[in-house]
Formats: sequence, C-alpha cells, structure tokens
Amino acid sequence: MRRLPPVLLEDGCPRELISLIRTVLAACKEISFRVGQGALSGVLGSTLDENIQGETQKKLDVLTNQLLKDILLESGYVKAIASEEEDFTVAGNPDAKYIVAFDPLDGSSNTDINSLVGTIFSIMAAPDGADPADPSIFMQPGKNQVAAGYVLYGPSTVLALTTGKGTRFFTLDKTHGTFLLTEDFAKVPEDTSEFAINASNQRHWQPAMQNYINDLIAGDTGPRGRNFNMRWIAAMVGDVHRVLCRGGIFTYPTDTKDPNKPNKLRLLYEANPMAMLIEQAGGIASTGTERIMDIQPDAIHQRVAVILGSKNEVETCLNYHK
Ligand code: AHG
Ligand code: MN
Ligand code: MN
Repeated sequence: MRRLPPVLLEDGCPRELISLIRTVLAACKEISFRVGQGALSGVLGSTLDENIQGETQKKLDVLTNQLLKDILLESGYVKAIASEEEDFTVAGNPDAKYIVAFDPLDGSSNTDINSLVGTIFSIMAAPDGADPADPSIFMQPGKNQVAAGYVLYGPSTVLALTTGKGTRFFTLDKTHGTFLLTEDFAKVPEDTSEFAINASNQRHWQPAMQNYINDLIAGDTGPRGRNFNMRWIAAMVGDVHRVLCRGGIFTYPTDTKDPNKPNKLRLLYEANPMAMLIEQAGGIASTGTERIMDIQPDAIHQRVAVILGSKNEVETCLNYHK
C-alpha cells in the first residue's frame, strides 16, 4: 500500500504543503493514541472553562487543541492558526506560506461514551507579505483552500484528504505510525435513501426544511414514493465520513431555537473543509441558498447552515428552498 508523501508528490503537491500536512498528521497520530487510551489516560470529562463560543470545554478539547497548536507553531510551516478552541488567531512564522484553521476535536459530546470523534482541518495560502498577527488573512472563501481533511478516530483511524485532485482515504497503520492509501477516488453516490439531521430541532426549522424532511419521513406514502432511513452520530466527522463512503444527505440547518445562534456549524473549520472533501468526491455542499465555498467570511468563528452530500438528493432539498 502507498504512503501519503509519495502519493501527494505524484500529484505535484508543493513540498512545503506536504510537510505542513504531515505536521498536522503528526499531531493527529498523538491524538489518536490519547483518544484510544480513553479513561486510562485520565482525559475524559469536562473542564470548568468555556470557549469564546460559550461551549463548555471537554478536557480533550483543550488537550487536542494544545497538541495541534504547539506542533504547528513549532514546525515553522504556518503563518498563523485559527482554532475552535482559541478566542483569536495565533501568529506563527512570518515567512511561512500557509495558514491553518482547525476543529481539534469534533464531536466532543461523544468522548465520554467511547463514540466517534475526529479532527477537521483547512489549509489556505496567506496573502503575500501579510502580517501573521492580522486575523483578516483568514477572511477568504473556502474555494481558496489548497488542502482540507479530517482524521476520524474510530475503530480504525482514517484520514480523508483532498488537495484539489479528488478525495482520498488513508488508514493509520498503528504498528508503524504511517498513513496508507486505502481509497484513491472516494465518490459520493448521486442518489441516496439516507438522511442525517438532529430531528429534536424540528419545530425550530424554517418551513423549507420542515417540508423537505416531512416528505422524507412520509416515505412510500408521500410525494417521494419511497422510504428513507435516518442516521445521526452527533459528530460531523462521523456523519460526513458515512456520506463519503455510501452516500446520504447531512444537514444542520438554520433554526430559531436560540435567536443569537441561528446556525451551529462553523464556516472556517467545519463547513469549508467538509464542503471541499464532498465536492471533490462529486457531491454538493450548500447553505440552502448558496455554495458554502463561495461565502466570504467576516469572522473567525462564523456559523453557517450546512446541507451536503449526494448530488441529486441535495438538489432536491435545495428545490424546497427556492
Ligand atoms: P464540536 O464537538 O466540535 O463542538 O462539534 C459538534 C457539532 C458537529 O460535529 C455535530 O454534527 C453537531 O455539533 C451535533 O450537534 P447536536 O448536539 O445539536 O446534535
Ligand atoms: Mn466540530
Ligand atoms: Mn470541536
């Protein structure tokens, strides 16, 4: 099986970018080990702190953030980082070319129940001559991403990665510490009978999403004329991985549950990297009204509605929003 560096070199991926991706993965290998140790390493449970978004931080949120932050900043390959668990961007090497936004631990409500979690990352080039301390270097649409991926810490540790030449899966060989290519061209099937949404929010959705989901649930007695199945892992990494493997539609739509927080998922380190992976595998990623990767961000922790997955099913859902 082929290792990650030669696969990327063959693609013509710049060496500095390969080194940066390998740096992210070095941290992810350590995270994979810590997560795998579970209660044995004393990392389960919550801290007494909240992040800037008002969410209680799990011990693993803090630990994984620190691991990624330290290794990235020490490497010299990043000009700046942005993280879910950092209030502000953090400056790195002024001479480095790339910036990285990451969700160090996605699905952290799953940590204490030994269920799926992952790390999501997005890499962009910094504008020439930009000040590493200037947060506006992150205010670029997702279509500028040069690489995006996640590492899913499941029964096996799997990396989904794109550098703009398709979406690939690599599986961590834990005996040798190397990521090996296990799927060269991930392709999201265009049609699906599977949807993923947190249905407990149903009464708070907008009419378009209410109507769409009602029609799925009506199954063969409704306008769709066939039955649909539902899955919800409560970790976007797990749900998106399933969609990449066997198709589906995943959505965290706008809702009115908390007027101060109409959307849940964050653009820079959740929606954008997942959108690139999905599009590179032939799927669609939209807010309901626009392509996610076309959004011009105006804040580091900006949130957006997300509807992504199988092409034909996402298009059907978008028709309800017209
Ligand atoms: P995080 O753990 O990084 O805060 O992200 C959790 C996100 C996402 O992964 C998942 O799809 C969603 O929150 C689950 O939300 P609910 O708990 O509302 O189902
Ligand atoms: Mn997350
Ligand atoms: Mn997180």
